Amino acid sequence: MVMARAPWVSSRLGPAHHDPSPLAPACCRRTQRAVQRQGSAKPVRPPWELEQRAQEVRMRAAVTNVDPAAPPVEVREVPPPSPAPGWVTVRLQRAALNRLDAMLLAARTEEKPDTVYGADGAGLVHEVGPPVAGHDTDVAPGDRVIICPSLHWGEDEQAPGASYEILGSPTDGTHAELVAVPAANVHRVPAHLSWEEAAALPLAGLTAWRALVTRGRLKGGETVVVGAASSGVGSMAVQLAHAHGARVAAVTSGPAKAAAASALGADAVVDRSRGAVAEQLRALVPEGADLALDPTGALWQPFVDALRPGGRLVAVGKMASATAELRVQSVYWKQVDVLGSSMGSPRDFRDLLRHVEEHRWAPLVDSVFGLGDVAAAYARLDADDRIGKVVLDTTR
Ligand SMILES: NC(=O)c1ccc[n+]([C@@H]2O[C@H](COP(=O)([O-])OP(=O)(O)OC[C@H]3O[C@@H](n4cnc5c(N)ncnc54)[C@H](OP(=O)(O)O)[C@@H]3O)[C@@H](O)[C@H]2O)c1
Repeated sequence: MVMARAPWVSSRLGPAHHDPSPLAPACCRRTQRAVQRQGSAKPVRPPWELEQRAQEVRMRAAVTNVDPAAPPVEVREVPPPSPAPGWVTVRLQRAALNRLDAMLLAARTEEKPDTVYGADGAGLVHEVGPPVAGHDTDVAPGDRVIICPSLHWGEDEQAPGASYEILGSPTDGTHAELVAVPAANVHRVPAHLSWEEAAALPLAGLTAWRALVTRGRLKGGETVVVGAASSGVGSMAVQLAHAHGARVAAVTSGPAKAAAASALGADAVVDRSRGAVAEQLRALVPEGADLALDPTGALWQPFVDALRPGGRLVAVGKMASATAELRVQSVYWKQVDVLGSSMGSPRDFRDLLRHVEEHRWAPLVDSVFGLGDVAAAYARLDADDRIGKVVLDTTR
């Protein structure tokens, strides 16, 4: 365990100085006399200097405004986090946006003010907090790390416990220069990933991994249908299913996204903007798919219809529809499993990283914005032609 000193504290403030001259402020002279009386070499900072230090030691972060008349999110200077026992702080190099951030932003008036969103990030370990008995960590300042966004999952692999949360709300997230997370949540960055790719991976990759592999029991040689193939979750699901040795039928919208899905490894592509998704899938996969992943909520019925008898449907999202309708007989007659999946456990995250390293795939990055352009990054998330992840460069 290594205790790091915040380099920007010493470099920006310089050594403590005490001006004993008669022209110095009275509080400074009083402090100096007290130090001399005690014969202590330890510098005592006068109150005005402590106040100055508090003002200077700040970081830039994208914080929310709960006032509906104000811009929803803006970059401000805020106090940086410091690591609690068993936690670390990470100086972020890049962060990424998810649909979750946009959903939280839309409901921000119900949240605490000045929240810092962001579940995805990668950067350099900055400070390591005091050790906690029984929780060894080999993380040291300067390590290149990627952050697992599942906080406090608990002991049960089947589902998270009551303390579970996703980094970014209520715990302040990665859309900032620094973030504090449990030491157990940081992992070495797979060596072939750029900072952009590393920051794009965690939430969507973890969701795709658990949905397809842990919950969906995907095996090499199987056929899988992936909805919203241009989305963060969908694009990574196509990549990891392909790397897993599965045959992939991707569902997306428009020729550019169809071409991108093929480039990511889809063997066949359905353009949902042409309608008749079930018929298009039946033509492409006449024997029926083994597994189908719907991140939208709008594709349950065509996906169940596209499954073989005994197939599995995994639902992870409700972006297009919060309720799904199914012909009941289409589920029971074919002995279909309808499965729910959300995020993933620490074990899922480690397995995902191993898979990424072994198969050397990298998330598709659509665009990179400076932290100061966070509003433009949110706008890009909603653009019709966006393919893959929107990333924030938190160093600018
Ligand atoms: N449960 C979890 O743990 C978890 C974790 C992550 C995400 N999610 C959910 O998964 C979904 C995807 O998240 P994300 O961050 O990857 O989203 P995203 O990148 O913002 O996805 C946007 C894409 O969704 C597709 N889409 C939009 N409207 C649609 C409609 N009416 N019908 C079909 N597809 C539509 C489009 O893809 P195409 O043009 O390619 O069809 C669109 O480009 C969201 O619902 C999100 O809430 C859940």
